[in-house]
Amino acid sequence: MKNIAVIGTGYVGLVVAVGLADFGNRVTGVDIDDVKIAKLNEGKLPFHEPGLKDYLEANIESGRLSFTRDISSAIPKSSVVFLAVGTPPRRDGSANLEYLESSVDAIAEHARSYTLVVTKSTVPVGTNRALGKRIRARGAAAEIEIVSNPEFLREGRAIQDFFHPDRIVIGAESERAREILVDIYRALKLSEVPFLWCGIETAELIKYATNAFLATKITFINQMANLADKVGADIALIAKSMGMDGRIGEKFLHPGPGFGGSCFPKDIRALASTGDSFGVDMSLVKIVAAANEEQKARVVARLKVLLDARLNGLSIAVLGLAFKSNTDDVRESPALRVIADLLKEGILIRAHDPQAMDNFKILFPDISYCDSGIEAMKGADAVLILTEWNEYRSLDFSLMRKVMRGKVLLDTRNLLDPKRAREHGFIYRDNGRSTDSV
Ligand code: UDX
Repeated sequence: MKNIAVIGTGYVGLVVAVGLADFGNRVTGVDIDDVKIAKLNEGKLPFHEPGLKDYLEANIESGRLSFTRDISSAIPKSSVVFLAVGTPPRRDGSANLEYLESSVDAIAEHARSYTLVVTKSTVPVGTNRALGKRIRARGAAAEIEIVSNPEFLREGRAIQDFFHPDRIVIGAESERAREILVDIYRALKLSEVPFLWCGIETAELIKYATNAFLATKITFINQMANLADKVGADIALIAKSMGMDGRIGEKFLHPGPGFGGSCFPKDIRALASTGDSFGVDMSLVKIVAAANEEQKARVVARLKVLLDARLNGLSIAVLGLAFKSNTDDVRESPALRVIADLLKEGILIRAHDPQAMDNFKILFPDISYCDSGIEAMKGADAVLILTEWNEYRSLDFSLMRKVMRGKVLLDTRNLLDPKRAREHGFIYRDNGRSTDSV
């Protein structure tokens, strides 16, 4: 059993803290946000994540997990410190590392014996080595070693991803660090999760390469879907067949209104910026970023055509505000851009999301928020589906026709049956399965 501090209790940090405590370690979660810390110590989640609350409560109850604002007390009693603070994008796309820097400064100041620093935050190549230098330059009293251990968990499936990861990547340079991490992750080793040991720079780049590749895969299928729409082909079958090719794989081939979230958009910008600073052509990821913006803009352009170019004064029901289902996270959600564009056109928005309305309200306080999808559709000229929540897969077409004023239905996530929608009289469009050219 190790004493571990996890700095940062966001999506990654909190799941890691809870998971490491569940493996039997004594974990202290550290965050600068007082309100969050108070909430967490009461076993309350600061965000929606299926299954996380039970693990949080059970591990607090067992005495293995607690939270504090006081980094100076958490560091000296921890032999291992995980860094899971945010690395938000700066204006030029590069990652802002100030939270990481202040965390390692605190570690340098307060560590009293050998401390292993494990970076979970996604950081540009070279950052961990630079942080190591920074620690040494501050003349830390104790020996401090830094390793890179990128986290691949997805929001909405974080518990499953933490306990059953595809692989654990560790960029470490000493046998001592390696032994400590094997000990911490013993439970995963026993369940035969593959461990990939590598150099620090390799581990840093693995994370960016993975996210940029996935973002590229989504963008590829989005553009194929746009083409399928024009030529009357079916993207579902195209994606299925592509997925049957073992070299491609079936996942991440679902077209949509563009990818969002706290990782992909930020990480591809940071990767492009890293390429620029090393003079290496990363034009592919730059094109992915631009194409993703186009994909979001395309939603309103399509609605315009479907509604005969007269959007001003119309009412549109928007179903789904989160960047994907099973989360209340709206960071870089396509809904942000789409709703901003619709408001510019003079549209009245009636929005619904099962989890993300409170977060969306902070950014868009003046649109109407409704308790259910069907409530949002009352009097609407069109329905726009932006997030693949399960409850939107079984919409009652007859009831919708009764409560709506119009009959346009734009399903950007391909949730509904085009044939049935059309049988109910809808002007139905989706992403690449319809034969119409809008
Ligand atoms: C992602 C990575 O998957 C994870 O490994 C990393 O640690 C953090 O970033 P997350 O942001 O939680 O995780 O979301 P993810 O499920 O990967 O989806 C990202 C975006 O892509 C969402 O907007 C989603 O709707 C979109 N997407 C995903 C598609 O449009 N089509 C797909 O086929 C898959």
